[in-house]
Amino acid sequence: MAAAAAAPALSFPTTLHPPLHQHPRRRRRRRGAEPPACVYSERGITFDPGSAFYRSDSAAGRDLAVLAATLHRRRLRRPDPSAPFLCLDAMCGCGVRALRYLAQAGADFVWANDASDALRPVIVNNLSRFERAAAPEAMARRWVVSHLDATRLLAERFLRREYFDVIDVDSFGGDAAYIRAALLALRIGGLLYLTSTDWRSARGYGSRSSLSSYGAYIRPVPYPNEVGLRMLIGGAVREAAILGFHITPLFSYYAYHGPIFRVMVQLCYGKQDGISNYGFICHCKSCGQSRTFGFDELGQITCGCADKTDPSSITVVGPLWIGPLHDTTFLTEMLSLATEWGWANTIENGVTLEKLLDTMIEESDSRLPPGYIRLDEIASRAKVNSPPLGTLINSLRKEGYAACRSHIGANAIKTSCPIDACLEVAREIRNLR
Ligand SMILES: C[S@@+](CC[C@H](N)C(=O)[O-])C[C@H]1O[C@@H](n2cnc3c(N)ncnc32)[C@H](O)[C@@H]1O
Ligand SMILES: [Zn+2]
Repeated sequence: MAAAAAAPALSFPTTLHPPLHQHPRRRRRRRGAEPPACVYSERGITFDPGSAFYRSDSAAGRDLAVLAATLHRRRLRRPDPSAPFLCLDAMCGCGVRALRYLAQAGADFVWANDASDALRPVIVNNLSRFERAAAPEAMARRWVVSHLDATRLLAERFLRREYFDVIDVDSFGGDAAYIRAALLALRIGGLLYLTSTDWRSARGYGSRSSLSSYGAYIRPVPYPNEVGLRMLIGGAVREAAILGFHITPLFSYYAYHGPIFRVMVQLCYGKQDGISNYGFICHCKSCGQSRTFGFDELGQITCGCADKTDPSSITVVGPLWIGPLHDTTFLTEMLSLATEWGWANTIENGVTLEKLLDTMIEESDSRLPPGYIRLDEIASRAKVNSPPLGTLINSLRKEGYAACRSHIGANAIKTSCPIDACLEVAREIRNLR
């Protein structure tokens, strides 16, 4: 049944179906919009948030989306090069993302949707100002505003065979009902930007809801915010597999305000040959070591120190994504584009994109296992004062291990070094060996 449902997604439409293209005869001039009552600006694009839910703290998440969408547009090699680049913002609030996809990512068309029809004047006003300035003589409509439940909207796009290059679902909470519909409405190769604010599940306090939303059973581990990202990617992996596809995470971004978990995944053709990046993480409270296990190792989940410790010190979470959080090449290109646009070095709401993207690029090293270790945990287990973070990372690298900062925790490292050896390195730094 799933294969049958997915089948139409394989045929790329060469022309757009109504209502994506409006017939010229029906084209109306939009009423001149009032100047915004309250002007906000993101990277030079002004808009009015009106009464919509809008957080300036989330601007970095929008910057990343715009950079990714732009790169994706530039990389596309379509049989029909004139095919329009289409974005869909399924929970658009005031429409700031839709506006930025049009103005900055070079989208030919954006569908802006929000369940609340009370937001219509705000969204229309924001988008109208862009349209007038940018494409007054365009034959096709550049945007549409609707007020449907996101899952219904996405399912309708799929049924009409209207496939998008970028779909952005900026949801509240941990509702994941729309993921399958979003994948169905996405072009193969397209980008899906997912959001979760379900920190309770990530921290292991909502195992029932993480199980129903993402198919993952989560218990508390010392790196919950990375688990939150992996849980979200894992949910997309599962939904894509049901449809006969697979996904690749391009970047994963945890922002402490909210907190918010965001992942940009790319829909790829066909099922993956294996499930090597979808499995379980085992953390041992006793020694602090984490390990990953595949489905074929389910009966063997244990820690090397297990013979000396209580088995209850073992925590297993999953199944979730256990592969790299990001794609190195894609992130490197995002950083180049941010530099080209002059976005890399400015501090916006406390975030410097260059610093963030540099850290993410380091985190994307495929040798790095899931999780991070906080410096205070290292110090307490090694019984030394906390080693300086940079010194510890350099020492671990000199020993041949992969090591870097985590964009998630300011005082934490990610490393391929086993915990015992890491503690030895920390002691050496403190000259205690
Ligand atoms: C986090 S806010 C969006 C913020 C906006 N994307 C931004 O970047 O400023 C989530 C929005 O989703 C809308 N919403 C909530 N549930 C929805 C649903 N099931 N379908 C469509 N929109 C929904 C809410 O009205 C709200 O405006
Ligand atoms: Zn152990």
